[in-house]
Amino acid sequence: MNGRRTSITVAARAKINLTLEILGKRSDGYHELRSVVMPVSLCDRLVISTTQAEPALSVLGAPGVDLSQIGDTKHNLVLRAVKLMQHHFGVKSGARIQLHKRIPIGGGLGGGSADAAAVLLGLAELWQLNCPRAELMALGAQLGSDVPALIHGGVVLMEGRGERVKPLPPASLTTSLEPFWLIIANPGIVCSTPKIFKKWRAGLTNGPNFSHNMTLSICNGDVAGVAGALYNDLQGVVFACYPAITMAAEQLRAAGCLGVLLSGSGASVFGLVRDQAHGNEISQNLGSGLWHVLVHTCPVV
Ligand code: C5P
Repeated sequence: MNGRRTSITVAARAKINLTLEILGKRSDGYHELRSVVMPVSLCDRLVISTTQAEPALSVLGAPGVDLSQIGDTKHNLVLRAVKLMQHHFGVKSGARIQLHKRIPIGGGLGGGSADAAAVLLGLAELWQLNCPRAELMALGAQLGSDVPALIHGGVVLMEGRGERVKPLPPASLTTSLEPFWLIIANPGIVCSTPKIFKKWRAGLTNGPNFSHNMTLSICNGDVAGVAGALYNDLQGVVFACYPAITMAAEQLRAAGCLGVLLSGSGASVFGLVRDQAHGNEISQNLGSGLWHVLVHTCPVV
């Protein structure tokens, strides 16, 4: 018997953008970004099994996840990720994937991208491809702008369209990174990322310091500093289009969160809390009217 595994279980962590600066529109239709991206403990789970059949996907949803938003699974990023791996590495085996979905769909938390990243990492291990992470990140960029950062893992500075990813802190800041606690809330709306980007108009970003200040506060474990440095160029557009998202942010603020921000292009918002106990207190204050979850960041790979 050879020791080759036929199945692997992989966690696909959601992400938040602690800063999201849009530096301009590119000639390829995308936008030039600078963003501090941090994975969080909220995650989907994928059970990936090798088969000799065509790639197949089945999805199970946790309470609060609206699976009707997932669309036709045939076009799902997960299956596109399997086919990309087969094609790129010339692998004849297929893969059957069971996806346990806990990350809200279309919520600005990178759920679909995290699932695709997990497929690339999981198949590289399952098929024993011995492939450098940088190669997987370059492949991941073909599937979505957030995928390279999620394959890298840990807290990163994401630039370009999303394909340039640097780990934070820089080597000069050697303090060990502490997790932060936060509440993610979702008002049950799905935001269309292309639509939100289209509505964005160049404004006041150009302050070189949003992501720099954020990095310093993360390195110092300074939750108040992180709360003060939160920034998202898409927030104004999203709040103007969706009053329910504005209201969710106001609820987090009123419940006592230290700083509140839209995640990515929405529809989720998150609020930083002092620690786990403070988060539990705020969660109780919020009650059951607004879907929310208490999580911590995962700053280290
Ligand atoms: O790369 P991804 O498929 O995740 O992007 C979804 C949409 O978000 C793109 O079609 C584009 O409209 C917008 N986007 C952008 N600039 C980026 C990333 C995404 O305009 N850097």
